[in-house]
Amino acid sequence: MRQLLVAGNWKLNGSLELVFALLSGISDRLSEVGNTEVAVCPPFIYLEHARRQLQGLEIALGAQDCSDQQQGAYTGEVSAAMIRELGCKYIIVGHSERRHLYSESDATVAMKFERVRESDLIPILCVGETLEERESGHTEMVISRQLDAVLKRSGVGGFRHAVIAYEPVWAIGTGKTATPVQAQQVHAFIRGRLEAQDKEIAAHLRILYGGSVKPDNARELLQENDIDGGLIGGAALKAEDFVAIAAAGDA
Ligand code: PGA
Repeated sequence: MRQLLVAGNWKLNGSLELVFALLSGISDRLSEVGNTEVAVCPPFIYLEHARRQLQGLEIALGAQDCSDQQQGAYTGEVSAAMIRELGCKYIIVGHSERRHLYSESDATVAMKFERVRESDLIPILCVGETLEERESGHTEMVISRQLDAVLKRSGVGGFRHAVIAYEPVWAIGTGKTATPVQAQQVHAFIRGRLEAQDKEIAAHLRILYGGSVKPDNARELLQENDIDGGLIGGAALKAEDFVAIAAAGDA
């Protein structure tokens, strides 16, 4: 079956000192985690440091974003190929903070998704609706639009080696978690949409839930059929909490 994945999205947090302490804390507790795959996504600048510290450990490394371009005159950008050289396995694309705070369009996110694939890395594609969209009954429409942009560029085959993270915007960093039933409904909808195009790809696709996942709500979320792990923000900055969430997947 699908191996659960619990990935920590550190966002714009950290210092060399914190990176060292957090990674040490996670590796010290790693024996508490069973079959669940564990990944951390520190800021770009700490990836090389993290790569060295994680050598020989079963913790995958990911980046939080990448450029939609391969190379050239794009000041400040970091390409997927560069990230690959730093030993990363995953790159998050289309996080709602990128979509909303940095005005990334569905088309830009789709381009980034393709760049990650071209570099033989695994995209973690974030999708999710705002509170207003949910309340006006548009959740499925928004998620379909976000998925369709990627399907249009990469085809359903693009999801053979990809991960999706359903992150309702209203649940991110707010302390409000989607209930397991609410999350499961959307996860099943996402899988169903891909299933209509390719049953096998849909069956293998890991769909993570993100949005205020904590040690005390992780277990019930991860027990749902179509929830295959979590993308963790705030709680990923405390080694103990992050590992407890990863361990909840095996319970
Ligand atoms: P949160 O963030 O766990 O702090 O809600 C999740 C995310 O943004 O990926």
